[in-house]
Amino acid sequence: MHFQWFPGHMTKAIRSMKDSIKLIDIVIELVDARIPVSSRNPEIDSLAGSKSRIILLNKCDMADERETAGWISGYKERGLFAASIDARKKQDLKAVTALIEKAGEEKRQRDLKRGIKNRPIRTMVVGIPNVGKSTFINSFVGKASAKTGNKPGVTKGNQWIKLDRGKNGAQIELLDTPGILWPKFEDQTVGLHLAWIGAIRDERIINTDLALDLIEFLESEHKGIIEEKYGFTPDEDSVNVLTQIASARGCIAKGGEPDYDKAAFFLLDDFRNARLGRVTIEEHKEDLI
Ligand code: G4P
Repeated sequence: MHFQWFPGHMTKAIRSMKDSIKLIDIVIELVDARIPVSSRNPEIDSLAGSKSRIILLNKCDMADERETAGWISGYKERGLFAASIDARKKQDLKAVTALIEKAGEEKRQRDLKRGIKNRPIRTMVVGIPNVGKSTFINSFVGKASAKTGNKPGVTKGNQWIKLDRGKNGAQIELLDTPGILWPKFEDQTVGLHLAWIGAIRDERIINTDLALDLIEFLESEHKGIIEEKYGFTPDEDSVNVLTQIASARGCIAKGGEPDYDKAAFFLLDDFRNARLGRVTIEEHKEDLI
């Protein structure tokens, strides 16, 4: 399987993202807590330049808590502000306001020294498709104001959404439209991991191949979870395992053969919705940050 994705108007998108970043103080980058490497595009480092950065590990409800904590300390060691969130839960987002205040404090102090008071802290959400940008903006802002877009970059006509003032009285503002980054596909593992979590759906992706790769990964890195979910002891042959999943889930094609497509769909759907448990695919390692 070969993963490829060339978003149209890439140069225009980069330019538009650069223009928006010029207007803001803090870049809030959302990544998927299950794949903190593959759900980022390292180009954000150069796009963000010297702006303050916050990394939010979203969908933490589906990732392994210890791994998420490891990633967060890693980011902090690198001087980034970081937290884990479930963007659907407003409760989880209270901590984000405090993080924005912290990330904006240096700039606020500089402003105060220059005699500039009450300048808002301007922020923008960025991330690759499907990491939960719109969900985050909607929950954070408290009303359905985030627009979704399929093209990377930021659409024209951005508006500033005023958020509650922080404890230090600073007015926080958020650009209403998120900046859409694109995944970094040079490494095929990135494509595979994005496809496993369902972040890229492409008719050229063969679900059965994807499921067989996933079985091999789970059996090698997370032994026991297939057995626990489907109630059989997997052997070393991933095709046999998929056959047994087909039988466990009643996926039978005409003629009584296993329906591999259907079994693959069930396995992927169970995995994507954390019905196999909370699995972090990309475990925290220093060199991966
Ligand atoms: P995007 O703007 O970055 O492209 O992502 P978007 O907010 O559209 O979110 C993509 C999907 O991820 C949505 O599901 C959303 O409900 C889900 N999501 C976002 N944040 C979280 C989170 O913290 N935890 C979990 N478990 N899910 C989250 P969808 O597939 O579009 O719809 P549905 O699955 O809710 O039907």
